[in-house]
Amino acid sequence: MPGRSTLVFGGTGSIGRAVCRALDATGYGVIIADLPDAIARQEDLPRNWRTVACDVTDRASVEAALEKVCNEVDAVVYASGVNYTGPVATTDWSAYERLQRVNLQGAFHVGAAAERILAPGAYVFLSSVAGLSGEAGGSVYCSTKFGLIGFVESFAAEIAERGARANSVCPGNVDSPLLASLAADVAARERVSTEEILHRFAAESAFNRLITVDEVAAVVSFLISPQSSGVSGQAIIVDGP
Ligand SMILES: NC(=O)c1ccc[n+]([C@@H]2O[C@H](COP(=O)([O-])OP(=O)(O)OC[C@H]3O[C@@H](n4cnc5c(N)ncnc54)[C@H](O)[C@@H]3O)[C@@H](O)[C@H]2O)c1
Repeated sequence: MPGRSTLVFGGTGSIGRAVCRALDATGYGVIIADLPDAIARQEDLPRNWRTVACDVTDRASVEAALEKVCNEVDAVVYASGVNYTGPVATTDWSAYERLQRVNLQGAFHVGAAAERILAPGAYVFLSSVAGLSGEAGGSVYCSTKFGLIGFVESFAAEIAERGARANSVCPGNVDSPLLASLAADVAARERVSTEEILHRFAAESAFNRLITVDEVAAVVSFLISPQSSGVSGQAIIVDGP
C-alpha cells in the first residue's frame, strides 16, 4: 500500500535496483538492505530511498536490520543472490557453501526474522527458471533455486492464516552483469567466446532475447501490490513460453 515501505534485500543489485525503481514509481517507500560494501558503492541513490546494512548469511545481522525498520515496512523482496557454474564432479565447495548460504539460508533468516519482527503483508523471493528445471553445470545454483521455491510454498501456507502472502518470481536469462559473468565462466569452460554464450542464453527463450530487469521488476511490484491479493504460494515465470 503506498505510504508504507518495501524492504528490498539485494536492492543495490541489477534486479533489486529495478524493483526499487518500480516500487518508487508506484508510490511505495523503498529501503534497501544489502552488504555494507555494496551500499557504500552507491553514489546515485535517490534521496528518498533509505538503506540498511545487512549480511543475509548472518542471522543476527538480519535481525538487527529488521529491528531498525520495524515500524515502517509492510512488504519484503528478497533479491539477494549469487551464482556459480560447474560440473558436479569438480564442485568448488566454497562456492557451494556460499550459494546455499546466500540464496537459500538467507531467505530462511529473512522469513523467520520478518515474521517475528515485521509481520509484513507480502513477500517476493527471487528464484529463477533454474529453480524449475536443471541443466548441465547448474546443479549448485539450481539446487538453491529449487529449494527456494519449496521454502516459499511452505512459508506461504504458514502465513496465509494471518492474511499475508509469499510468492517466488522465476526470471529466465536477464540482461545483467550477473548473467554476463556466468556467460564468461561457461565460455571459459567450453573455450568459446562470451558473446557466443550470451547469444545461446538469449536463444533459450522463445522470445529469442534476454529478459530485461524492468520486466522482472514489474512482476515483483505487482506481487507486492494489493492487485495480487489473491495470489500466494506461486512461482511466477518471467520468460517466454
Ligand atoms: N540476472 C539473471 O539473469 C537472473 C535470472 C534469474 C534469477 N536471478 C536471481 O535474481 C536475484 C538478483 O539477481 P541480479 O542479477 O540482480 O544479481 P546481482 O549480483 O546484481 O545482485 C545480487 C545482490 O545480492 C547481494 N548480496 C550478495 N550476497 C549477499 C549477502 N551475503 N547479504 C546481503 N546481500 C547480498 C549483492 O550485494 C547484490 O546487491 C538473484 O537471486 C539471482 O539469482 C537472476
